[in-house]
Amino acid sequence: MDYFISSDFNLKDNVCQYFDTYQCFHTKEHSLQVAKESQKLAQKFHVDMDKCYQAALLHDISAVISPQKMMDIALSHQWEIDPAEKKYPFLLHQRISALIAQTVFKIEDQDILSAIACHTTLKKNASDIDMVVFLADKIKWDQKGEPPYLHVIQKGLDISLKKASYMFLDEQLKNQRILYPHQWLKEAYDDLKK
Ligand SMILES: [Fe+2]
Ligand SMILES: [Fe+2]
Repeated sequence: MDYFISSDFNLKDNVCQYFDTYQCFHTKEHSLQVAKESQKLAQKFHVDMDKCYQAALLHDISAVISPQKMMDIALSHQWEIDPAEKKYPFLLHQRISALIAQTVFKIEDQDILSAIACHTTLKKNASDIDMVVFLADKIKWDQKGEPPYLHVIQKGLDISLKKASYMFLDEQLKNQRILYPHQWLKEAYDDLKK
């Protein structure tokens, strides 16, 4: 991707300018909200606030790319494609965002890249940073109004990040809200169940 970030800007300004350039105003607003929510959750659970904030700002930067192009990129990198990604290539956007964070935004921190790469599905052995960004993205979803599962996450957050993540996945799977569960999501669920 030919996009050059400015070294005179901080990450937030660079992300905003990037979304403006591609006219992705909706995703820009969503990303700013998820970033703010991530800071709140990080503070509450004593997780690295700066890493959560950076990961959240960058989590949807692949929104400027079409799902078909995401598939082309994934295949050119010889990534293993999950059946869910094959059916719904948009699911690749979490891993493509991490790739753009690394190559365009020069993020090398593995904790940040990990949180970006699993923000939709989560994964087994998820870190606190992974869970903060995952949950913040669900709380500040990119659709209108309040998400129907919000009370479930809030209840879980009274206990822990793990509990909230588990309760959210449980609610989604039991109510069949997920069209085609990704392997990482199933593994995250089984892992958190323990
Ligand atoms: Fe996303
Ligand atoms: Fe998002």
